[in-house]
Amino acid sequence: MDELEKLKKRRNAIILAHNYQRPEIQDVADFVGDSLALAMKARQTDADVIVFCGVDFMAQSAKIINPDKIVLFPDETAKCPMAAMVDVDALLYWKKKYGYDIVSYINTTAEVKAISDICCTSANAVKVVKSMPNGVIFVPDENLGKYVKRFVDKDMILWPGFCPTHLGITKKDIIKLKEKHPNAEILAHPECTEEIIDIANEVASTEGMVKYAMKSSSEEFIVASEKDLCYRMKKEMPQKKFYAIENAVCPTMKKITLEKVIKSLEKMKPEIKISKEIIEKASIPLEKMLKIGRES
Ligand code: 13P
Ligand code: SF4
Repeated sequence: MDELEKLKKRRNAIILAHNYQRPEIQDVADFVGDSLALAMKARQTDADVIVFCGVDFMAQSAKIINPDKIVLFPDETAKCPMAAMVDVDALLYWKKKYGYDIVSYINTTAEVKAISDICCTSANAVKVVKSMPNGVIFVPDENLGKYVKRFVDKDMILWPGFCPTHLGITKKDIIKLKEKHPNAEILAHPECTEEIIDIANEVASTEGMVKYAMKSSSEEFIVASEKDLCYRMKKEMPQKKFYAIENAVCPTMKKITLEKVIKSLEKMKPEIKISKEIIEKASIPLEKMLKIGRES
């Protein structure tokens, strides 16, 4: 910890971490949040260096928003499998075929963002799709797309992408926990399947779930999302109880370790590099989304 603090000062660095990061990473981070909050924080910071503890598309977004800053990504192999499910050529083919605007979830590569009309996160997907004049092509998460469809009267062409971690959470897992803890409210991420969304008391982004639990008068919650989100919840609300789905682990998020964070600050690498052309194009849909802000 001492070594890390010294390095952070020396480099004028800030550590940003996603809510699914390992507990020890959440503990050393200057800021922990959802994809939207992290992108907003990356834009505000006056640090020279951002150490991004999350997955590839999140670190890339921080770089796109801050092209002049150094964005360190402690493990370059931490690539979100869902973001890898969209291929630029196939998406351009869809665009030609349907003629609709492309709404891309932030869980996409910089190249896909560069051909998108607007981005969204799970914290503003409904608001973003509502803001579009016509039908949309929604990539890559089909479950998030289906969730948005419940609130908008618009043609939405959904890409068949998915999050393996959230797809693995079953209704059976939730029912089992609910039987043990009948008073617990069910919180779910919109990347979950429809059968989970249907029984959830609240569907929200990771940050949205934290905020909901803070405001709710309930004292117990079943959390249908990645299990380490419960670490943050328990830390910030020690008086409440949070039940995680123990096998809901995102292996990619866990690739970032404390040792790798320290090493990245010592060596000032691996660094996120994106071409000027892609940054210029991808920043347009990202900035449009940042202007829209959160759902409510
Ligand atoms: P949030 O934006 O809700 O934090 O979600 C990101 C993510 O990757 C969920 O799997
Ligand atoms: Fe990607 Fe799913 Fe991991 Fe989120 S939880 S980073 S969508 S694989």
